[in-house]
Amino acid sequence: MHNLGVLLSGRGSNFLAIADAIDAGKIPDARIAVVISNLADAPGLEAARQRGLNAVAIEARGRKRAEHDHEVVAALRSHEVELICLAGYMRLLSPGFVQAFSGRILNIHPSLLPAFPGLDAQMQAFEYGVQVTGCTVHFVDEQLDHGAIILQRSVPVLSGDDPHAVAARILEQEHVAYAEAIARVLSGKYEIVGRRYLPKK
Ligand code: GAR
Repeated sequence: MHNLGVLLSGRGSNFLAIADAIDAGKIPDARIAVVISNLADAPGLEAARQRGLNAVAIEARGRKRAEHDHEVVAALRSHEVELICLAGYMRLLSPGFVQAFSGRILNIHPSLLPAFPGLDAQMQAFEYGVQVTGCTVHFVDEQLDHGAIILQRSVPVLSGDDPHAVAARILEQEHVAYAEAIARVLSGKYEIVGRRYLPKK
């Protein structure tokens, strides 16, 4: 059984999509061992509790990044987490965190990286005037929104769209993409060559 650890800061729709995908058998031999948030009032944490999952708040406010991350890493280890899924976790990970789980941290970002890293990626893309955007699931390295890309899904930006419509269209694809990427990584059937994710038979 693969133990997943989900980190989130907000509403947790990607977390719920992962949980639903597990329940639907789309991520074989996996369970969510723990959901951790840096914000005690994150709705996603409450949603995790309601599903009967271990849900832990580790407040970051007023603490040094390395110290906070150390505690998060300890919690992940105590739940024997194999793969970490950042799902709207709006904090940079310290190098120590990334090294502790090297090659075992995934993130989902709401743009086609390397375009529009950072905050409000959907709005950045909308204002830039792109006609195609989407989402990216990638490994986390020590740089922001930078590690090897596992999977991307694209969506059109239509002429009548407002930023909200674009974000909603992307989010729908995020929910599909994340579950698929997790299943791929857990299968172990891939190699990373340079920056490239290459599936293996
Ligand atoms: C998602 O759109 C995710 O891609 C984004 O935050 C949202 C979280 O929504 N993440 C980032 O922007 C990370 N750079 P959710 O809480 O409903 O899953």
